[in-house]
Amino acid sequence: MDKSELISHIQKQKKERNAVIVAHNYQVDEVQEIADLVGDSFALSRYCAKSDAEVIVFCGVHFMAESAVILSPEKTVLLPEIDAGCPMADMITAEDLREEKKKHPGAAAVCYINTSAEVKAECDVCCTSSNAVKVIKALEEKDIIFVPDQNLGHYVASMIPEKNFFLWKGFCPTHHRVKPETVREVKERIPDALLLVHPECRPEVVKMADFVGSTRQIIDYAASSPAKKFIIGTEMGVMYKLKKDNPDKTFYLLDKGFVCPNMKKTTLRSVYDALNEMKYRITVDKDISERAKKALDRMLELAG
Ligand code: 13P
Ligand code: SF4
Repeated sequence: MDKSELISHIQKQKKERNAVIVAHNYQVDEVQEIADLVGDSFALSRYCAKSDAEVIVFCGVHFMAESAVILSPEKTVLLPEIDAGCPMADMITAEDLREEKKKHPGAAAVCYINTSAEVKAECDVCCTSSNAVKVIKALEEKDIIFVPDQNLGHYVASMIPEKNFFLWKGFCPTHHRVKPETVREVKERIPDALLLVHPECRPEVVKMADFVGSTRQIIDYAASSPAKKFIIGTEMGVMYKLKKDNPDKTFYLLDKGFVCPNMKKTTLRSVYDALNEMKYRITVDKDISERAKKALDRMLELAG
């Protein structure tokens, strides 16, 4: 089947199954093109919570599809590539978090959405990179356990100096590998460009940025800024929308290694197979799901 045949089959199956296709901003271009919604983790969660489709085809990684199941347990959520995971989410287990909570009694346990359902079930509230500061500021507790991303944790702690943070030592392999030396080199080469980075980057890199935000916030910032040149400090998938929506602007990827191999697993063919064979259905144990939902619902309530 060629590309146009695949696309028309996908559209037909989508109608027959009353399905929607959602895609994260890091997905390959052709998957972004066929999605009903392309967004950051927060927008995708909110959309899944409200959608009245029966089937959600989640083009992203495992924790994202799992969050959709938790927020909409009555829907069928399909992850086209079953081994599309997030190595950072795997850097903490529920048992690790239970031990951490014993060390800091009275602290609020906050998890980045990049965590398993079991870890979310142990938390008071969840957050994404677009709302972490807002959510944590709104909490009564002064002491905050933040898991698993130390880099996002550092960023949030720098924005809320009045609270005490206990940071788990997890990181995103794709963002963490970029060092400040690379930033200096690229800035020297393109001195008139603004640097926009994701808070999963190292604190030394974040300090050098003109803007720090989620994938969606980076895309919105570039669109509304009067500047014409931007260095992009996050996964290369965002370049598709940036270039498409801003033909008069120039975008430079901060590092050519900004590729999340898991996000790149999903293809048009795997979306077609997912709808055709109704695979891979993501499920979450009922008790875990109900507890994790409280953390996600609280995020939606605090972040609006
Ligand atoms: P966003 O919520 O900014 O889309 O980020 C998700 C993610 O996994 C970043 O690596
Ligand atoms: Fe996980 Fe990093 Fe890939 Fe995002 S970019 S899904 S944090 S590995």
